[in-house]
Amino acid sequence: MSELTARQIVLAARPKGKPQLTDFRLEKTAIPTPAVGQLLLGVQYLSLDPYMRGRMDDRKSYAKPLQLGDVMTGETVAQILTSTHPAYAKGDIVLAPTGWRTHALSDGTGLRKLDPAFAPVTTSLGVLGMPGFTAYGGLRLIGKPQPGESVVVAAASGPVGSLVGQLAKLAGARAVGIAGGPEKCAYVKDELCFDAAIDHRDSDFAAKLSAACPDGIDVYFENVGGVIWQAVLPLLNKFARVPVSGLIAQYNGVGKGDGTDRLPATMREILSKSLTMHGFMNYEFAEYYPEFLREVGAGIADGRIRYREDIVEGLERAPEAFIGMLEGHNFGKLIVRVDV
Ligand SMILES: NC(=O)c1ccc[n+]([C@@H]2O[C@H](COP(=O)([O-])OP(=O)(O)OC[C@H]3O[C@@H](n4cnc5c(N)ncnc54)[C@H](OP(=O)(O)O)[C@@H]3O)[C@@H](O)[C@H]2O)c1
Repeated sequence: MSELTARQIVLAARPKGKPQLTDFRLEKTAIPTPAVGQLLLGVQYLSLDPYMRGRMDDRKSYAKPLQLGDVMTGETVAQILTSTHPAYAKGDIVLAPTGWRTHALSDGTGLRKLDPAFAPVTTSLGVLGMPGFTAYGGLRLIGKPQPGESVVVAAASGPVGSLVGQLAKLAGARAVGIAGGPEKCAYVKDELCFDAAIDHRDSDFAAKLSAACPDGIDVYFENVGGVIWQAVLPLLNKFARVPVSGLIAQYNGVGKGDGTDRLPATMREILSKSLTMHGFMNYEFAEYYPEFLREVGAGIADGRIRYREDIVEGLERAPEAFIGMLEGHNFGKLIVRVDV
C-alpha cells in the first residue's frame, strides 16, 4: 500500500426523499497494490445515472441495494496503470464497473477494452453505452415504430431519450420530445431534429402535447411517469406500444404526486385500446449489443446521430451533480471527469 492518495465516495446515509449531500461521504484511501494477475485502474470518467438513486434505498429491486459505507455503484472509463494480467497492458483504456472512486483493482471481470479511434471514450458511458443501448433495445424490440407513426419520449435531451427520438426518425416515424425548459426543447427540436418538443413545465403542457400529436401516439417510450404519463395516456392510439424504461419522476419517493391514482385509468386504457406495455432492463437485450454498436456507431461517425455530454470536473462534485440530475439540472449525458 502506498500513501493516502486514492479517493472514493460512499453511501453515508439512506436518503429520505430527495438525496442530500450528507447522504454521501468522501473518503481518502491508500492506492491499492495489484496482486499477480490483477490490474490497477485509474479512473478517468464516471457515469452518473438515474438507477443509482434506487441503489441508495434499502428496498427489494432488480439489483441489490448498497449497504451503508459501500462505495457508490457506477460505470467508469479507466486507464490501466499497472498490469500483471495477460490480456491487458499498461495504458489500455477500459470500460469498468469501478464505482465512484479514483483507483480500483480488477482481475479483468466485467472489463471491456475501448478503442479511442472508434469513438470518443466518453460515448461508452452514454450514446454508445448502457443508456444508448436502452434506447436502441427498448425502441427496436418493444416500441417497433413504423413509418408515419408517432413516437413520444420524455427526458428527450438525455442519453436515452435523445437516441429514442433520433432512431424513431431514422425508422420513418414522427418524433415528439418532452423536456424541461426552453433551452432543452430548442436543442431537441433544432439540433436533434425531432418534429416537435414540448416543455413539461408549461402550465398548459397536456394541451400542447395533444396539439403536437394530432394523430395520437403509437409508441410512448416511458422514461418519467407521473404527470407526463397522465398527459400521454388519453392520447395513446389503439395497439400503441409502451416500452417502460424508467420512472424518474418517482425515484425520490413520495411528495411530488398530485394525489391522483392513475392505476384504474391506466388499466382501462390497456384493456380498451389493446395496448402493449412492456417493462425491461437493457441487459435483457444483450445479444443485440454488437448490432447496436455497429449501427449507432456508424450513425455517429457519419453525423446522422448526435449526442450531447454534460461533463462535471472532479470526483468531489459527483454527489451534487447526481442530486441535480434527479431534478433535470443536467443537459445531456452526465459524466464526471475524475482527477486521478
Ligand atoms: N430500463 C433500463 O435498462 C434503463 C437504462 C438506463 C436508463 N433508464 C431510464 O431512462 C430514463 C432516462 O435516463 P437517462 O440516463 O437518459 O437520464 P437523463 O435524461 O440524463 O437525466 C434525467 C432527466 O430526467 C428528467 N426528469 C427528472 N425528473 C423529472 C420529472 N419529475 N418530470 C419530467 N422529467 C424529469 C430531467 O430532464 P428534463 O429537464 O428534460 O425534464 C433529467 O435531466 C430514466 O428513467 C432511467 O432510469 C432505464
